[in-house]
Amino acid sequence: MKLTDILRAEHQIIGNALGALDGMVRAARDAAVVPAADVREFVRFCRSYTDGLHHVKEEELLFPALMEAGLPRDTGPIDCMLHEHDRGRELVRQIDQLASGVGAGDAAARAAFIKTATTLSQLLRAHIQKENEVLYEMAEQALGDERNQSLAAGLAFEQTRDRRARDVACAEALVHRWASANDSPPCLSAAQEAALAIATGR
Ligand SMILES: [Fe+2]
Ligand SMILES: [Fe+2]
Repeated sequence: MKLTDILRAEHQIIGNALGALDGMVRAARDAAVVPAADVREFVRFCRSYTDGLHHVKEEELLFPALMEAGLPRDTGPIDCMLHEHDRGRELVRQIDQLASGVGAGDAAARAAFIKTATTLSQLLRAHIQKENEVLYEMAEQALGDERNQSLAAGLAFEQTRDRRARDVACAEALVHRWASANDSPPCLSAAQEAALAIATGR
């Protein structure tokens, strides 16, 4: 399996979790209660999976490989993607801080949550689209299949299967509770997830 295949599959799970976040925003707009525990669960998923599993692969494997292949670090797509990762982390931190107020029905916290969560969802969806359609295509050309596969084989820092399974289950539970059936694709199937875990050596 190629590194870009693994990253695209992870994007699918992240996109599913964003569908759940969109559902929380819809509820907040309708002045319905969004429990603090669910907001915190989304934050935990972002930190564990989106950052701790996915962005770390891009920042420590894919981007350095692209720089070796001649792409610049401080301009162009790599610089843009790194800035967007940082912006996403900051928005997640803000959402975490709003969780208690949102859960308590505080109007100001709810308004801030709607704005911040909408910004995060739009940012990450656009980020994923740029990576899928531009950066990963560029990587597949620049690295070639052999290098792309060897990068995937070298995922020594990959999280354990238990942690990955817990993160995916967390996303599935959030999707079940919050995402609209119309706008959320199904989570990565258990079989696909097992294939990913095998491909990454755990
Ligand atoms: Fe990224
Ligand atoms: Fe990504």
